[in-house]
Amino acid sequence: MARVLVTQPLPFPALDRLRTRHELTDDVAQAEGILCLLTDRIDAALLDRAPLLQVVSNYAVGADNIDLDAARARGVAVGVTPGVLTDATADLAFALILAAARGLPQAAADARNGEWRTWEPARWLGLELNGATLAVVGFGRIGQAVARRATAFGMEILPVHRDTPLRDALAQADVVSLHAPLTSKTRHMIDAEALDAMKPKAILVNTARGALVETNALAAALREERIFAALDVTDPEPLPPDHPLYTLPNALIVPHIGSATHTARERMADLAVDNLLAGLDGRPLPHPAS
Ligand code: DGY
Repeated sequence: MARVLVTQPLPFPALDRLRTRHELTDDVAQAEGILCLLTDRIDAALLDRAPLLQVVSNYAVGADNIDLDAARARGVAVGVTPGVLTDATADLAFALILAAARGLPQAAADARNGEWRTWEPARWLGLELNGATLAVVGFGRIGQAVARRATAFGMEILPVHRDTPLRDALAQADVVSLHAPLTSKTRHMIDAEALDAMKPKAILVNTARGALVETNALAAALREERIFAALDVTDPEPLPPDHPLYTLPNALIVPHIGSATHTARERMADLAVDNLLAGLDGRPLPHPAS
């Protein structure tokens, strides 16, 4: 029986598999395994306080909250939860694309506020997705799932891989959806220059990581009404209630809910526990972070 630190209680049956085989602790110095969230920072300093640690299991597909080099150097295995949240996140990305394209937040607010006085030919007009171009920045599992949805809507897909010139893609796209992992190379990939390269009135959707986008530059582009942004993730996160981005009518912001379906969150718990049990048994993790 090993000691495991679970940073937040997860209300899913997978946790019973963990509890029946191992003991829970809240003392990192005693922990042989950690099950953590993307909001937990697992850095070298924390790893140094955990000399018995064998495995860190992240309840997320992204691992940018974990210092992977520091873990590797200490022989600590790191696991993530790929695949099971692909459809949930792609659905949310597409919901944001549709909501932004048709101006749903503004139209819904107007209806509620008594602005719906008659049927108006030239009001509440949006972008038709059929024939519009979608740049998918990061063409991994989730990016491809978004592209499949977009193809069904008649959109032209522009996959943006690591070696694709980003500016060219941005200049052609009516909608840009971000699906790249956050690394030192991708941090602030959408900066002032990139935002300048976007088509006027284009839509930027981010369901990946907030820090892919330079927040101040984005706020400036939104203030100048050059683009629309639909964000599931922000930098900082959570975005404080008094943040200026909330005051901009061309920003739609939801609180990092890409994987928030019952199915995805339960399956993430399954994978996270599978990783943890394997690591504690000294077996290779079924879903290692890369
Ligand atoms: C992840 O898994 O990395 C998402 O951001 C949350 O599910």
